[in-house]
Amino acid sequence: MTQDELKTLVGQAALHYVEDGSIVGVGTGSTVNKFIDALATMKGRIVGAVSSSLASTERLQALGIKVFDATEVDELAVYIDGADEIDHAGCMIKGGGAALTREKIVAAQSRKFVCIADESKLVTTLGNFPLPVEVIPMAAKRIARQFAALGGTASLRLKDGAPLVTDNCQHILDVTGLKISEPLAFESQVSQWPGVVTVGVFAFQKANVCLLGTSAGVKTLVF
Ligand code: 5RP
Repeated sequence: MTQDELKTLVGQAALHYVEDGSIVGVGTGSTVNKFIDALATMKGRIVGAVSSSLASTERLQALGIKVFDATEVDELAVYIDGADEIDHAGCMIKGGGAALTREKIVAAQSRKFVCIADESKLVTTLGNFPLPVEVIPMAAKRIARQFAALGGTASLRLKDGAPLVTDNCQHILDVTGLKISEPLAFESQVSQWPGVVTVGVFAFQKANVCLLGTSAGVKTLVF
């Protein structure tokens, strides 16, 4: 099976976690796009969605799914999102699509985080994937030096030759060379650095369930 087919498989499998009459938390990325396409087949049975990015909002609306602002809803039963890496405890690296801040916000608003990913994303230790960190631009250079002190190398993410600007009008640093063996402690430490908006380690908002696309079908991991 191709990676694209595995993404379709887990996107469809995630429908099982969507309750009739609910508002669904929706993440961002190519795997979530498969989920959104699948969600459209049951749009008459849900009230709508809270989205983690402008890109997902556009896709949801184009398929006729009502999108609510996060402030209009108290708590969501479930949040469905992908990951760049997930470990065997459900901790993740996220933010490859630059949507990490809103993803963490919607995840925090949800009772259950269901991660959908193909098997290439499952790792023993987080850190091979460059860690995305959303930062306030004036702090970017100092934060890069703080990562260097931890052994990491931070690069400003570019788009069309200019710094990428997130949905929150901030920048992204991608940090290589880190081995994140204690995700909770790492997330806690980096989150306190002035100018860090969000670090792409999701340990406090880790997955409760991972639907992993494998050549043998969907494997369900419960954390
Ligand atoms: C976006 C994310 C995505 O969930 C992550 O990048 C995985 O994306 P994809 O499903 O395209 O591999 O965190 O900010």
